Amino acid sequence: MNLTMSAPAHAPVLVKETVEALAVQQGGRYIDCTVGGGGHAAAILDHSSPGGQLLGIDADPEAIKIAQKRLEAYGGSVCLINDNFVNLQAICIKYDFLPVHGILFDLGLSSLQLNGSGRGFSFRHDAPLDMRFSPSQKVAAADILDELSEGELNHIIKTYGEEGYSHQIARRIVQERPIKSSLQLARIVEQAVGGRRGRIHPATKTFQALRIAVNNELEHLEAALNQAINLLGFEGKLVVISYHSLEDRIVKRFMRQEAKDCICPPGTLTCVCGHIASLRLIKKKVITPSLEEVKLNPRSRSAKLRAAERIIASTEKTRDTISVP
Ligand SMILES: C[S@@+](CC[C@H](N)C(=O)[O-])C[C@H]1O[C@@H](n2cnc3c(N)ncnc32)[C@H](O)[C@@H]1O
Repeated sequence: MNLTMSAPAHAPVLVKETVEALAVQQGGRYIDCTVGGGGHAAAILDHSSPGGQLLGIDADPEAIKIAQKRLEAYGGSVCLINDNFVNLQAICIKYDFLPVHGILFDLGLSSLQLNGSGRGFSFRHDAPLDMRFSPSQKVAAADILDELSEGELNHIIKTYGEEGYSHQIARRIVQERPIKSSLQLARIVEQAVGGRRGRIHPATKTFQALRIAVNNELEHLEAALNQAINLLGFEGKLVVISYHSLEDRIVKRFMRQEAKDCICPPGTLTCVCGHIASLRLIKKKVITPSLEEVKLNPRSRSAKLRAAERIIASTEKTRDTISVP
């Protein structure tokens, strides 16, 4: 099965809050680094009309097909690129799309990928353990499960899943492999942790860990955030929606660090880092969905939105500030 054949559409999360945090303006230029089903992109295009432009990126070619359909009505205002956002800066240069008024990352997976892709992202449907966002990636989840040592598997499950039973799960995987399908893996994890407790499926963290490892998600996020700063014009906005603590920690630390003039270790008497603030935090506190949104769209319950804006650095030692015309 592929995404285009799958049933319910992806419901975008925190749409109003995203448009507000991006301060979307008429004629503005925006990048949606995770265009997915095109829900946020459509809202940005609606609010930036007339004259707004959107560059939408997604690593998943199936998602790009869906976004193309969804955003057809916006014609030449949209440019969709099937690529990984780790290449953000190169994409913007190639398509002459900079500086920009706002950049959005809505991280992770869409419901379409989770429920209808047949790529083994979910333990609720049986599918081969692929978990790649793009078929151009070389390593699938099944390769990791088949080829890594027990120690390496333990490291992945512990680090990217924050799973307390990582040792037991890794041992069981090595005993039971080859592991061919998502339901087989879910059963193995369930047995390794001694059965189900509570409402959350015991395989949730292992599936998260594998997906992060397959797609290098954390490394790519860090790299793309660093690139994003230099693509924003003066007062351009950076908005990131994350869905688990590992992602949110990276975003929080990045924005806080970039909002500081000096990042020397505490206790350093004279600054030696020379770091200059390039961002201002728009809201100090994280934005989360209302109870009403969570009720309508339970997938939104873990969403956290953080936003910052580009500032002109206060001294000569600026980054390459690009000003919006
Ligand atoms: C939560 S969905 C985005 C949904 C979208 N905001 C909407 O309104 O439909 C996340 C999307 O990001 C894509 N994605 C995740 N990591 C990516 C990366 N490193 N580069 C490009 N796309 C990525 C996924 O393929 C997925 O389609």
